[in-house]
Amino acid sequence: MNSSPLFDLTDRVILVTGATGALAGSAADYLAAQGARVVYFGRTQDKLDAALARCRETTPDARCLGLVADVLDRPALERARDTILHRWGRIDGLLNGAGGNQSGATIAPGKTFADLDFTAFREVVDLNLHGTVLPSLVFTPPMLEGARGSVVNFSSASAPQAITRVVGYSAAKAGVENFTRWLAVDLGRRTQGKIRVNAVLPGFFLGEQNRRLLTHEDGSLTDRGDAIVRNTPFGRFGQAAELHGAIHYLLADASSFVTGSILSIDGGFGAFSGV
Ligand SMILES: NC(=O)c1ccc[n+]([C@@H]2O[C@H](COP(=O)([O-])OP(=O)(O)OC[C@H]3O[C@@H](n4cnc5c(N)ncnc54)[C@H](O)[C@@H]3O)[C@@H](O)[C@H]2O)c1
Repeated sequence: MNSSPLFDLTDRVILVTGATGALAGSAADYLAAQGARVVYFGRTQDKLDAALARCRETTPDARCLGLVADVLDRPALERARDTILHRWGRIDGLLNGAGGNQSGATIAPGKTFADLDFTAFREVVDLNLHGTVLPSLVFTPPMLEGARGSVVNFSSASAPQAITRVVGYSAAKAGVENFTRWLAVDLGRRTQGKIRVNAVLPGFFLGEQNRRLLTHEDGSLTDRGDAIVRNTPFGRFGQAAELHGAIHYLLADASSFVTGSILSIDGGFGAFSGV
């Protein structure tokens, strides 16, 4: 479908976790529109149905597959793997998009680290780190049997540098970055580069998880939202479609010598000292 073979994703079997969410959902729709066979993973059938309806707007029905699985549920992931292999015979790509924060794992205004809800901290690490490791564990072995494989994880601007209040999520995403490098080295050596592992690092994208933190009901910025925009050289939040190019690149042959990299899509946030 793509005029350059470097970026051709036609018929690639690409799995997307968190595909009922904002960023990974948008990426899944984009990949399907590029001619990939996309497996949408979600936790509930009704949200999956809505996502699949979007997929079918641009793509023949046979290329969109929806599977219900929690990324922390190994037997469910293994059943899904068997279904995919039965249907399409291989797995070429995995976008580990499931993730997010929860309020208990952050330090609320007026509170200190001593007030941290450790259960929430653990749950956020579970979702973001273990929810990346487990799908990688289940879905990369079939890639070893195929001609190629590319895993793309989601890091965050809070992984490389401290962002106030966001303690659990930052620790989890820092773990995702290290795991990205570790698995890149392990699979890169074992397959002589056939399987690659990288991560995207989105800056700040307005979504349901952070909307109340960053904007008021009338759409104006909260103090925190304003601080983020002031520290983003582009002076705005990102939009989901602005991740598509980076994800496409990392899944396609254009990045055939790229592994273990963390690609920032952040309007310059990570490059800026704030001064
Ligand atoms: N929005 C941002 O600004 C931003 C910035 C950096 C990184 N990220 C990361 O990007 C990814 C997508 O985030 P988003 O903003 O689209 O959030 P989102 O909440 O819209 O999407 C996250 C998806 O993960 C799913 N999910 C949660 N727990 C799950 C579980 N146990 N099993 C399976 N699925 C589960 C949710 O149902 C949801 O569909 C996440 O990893 C997030 O941490 C987001």
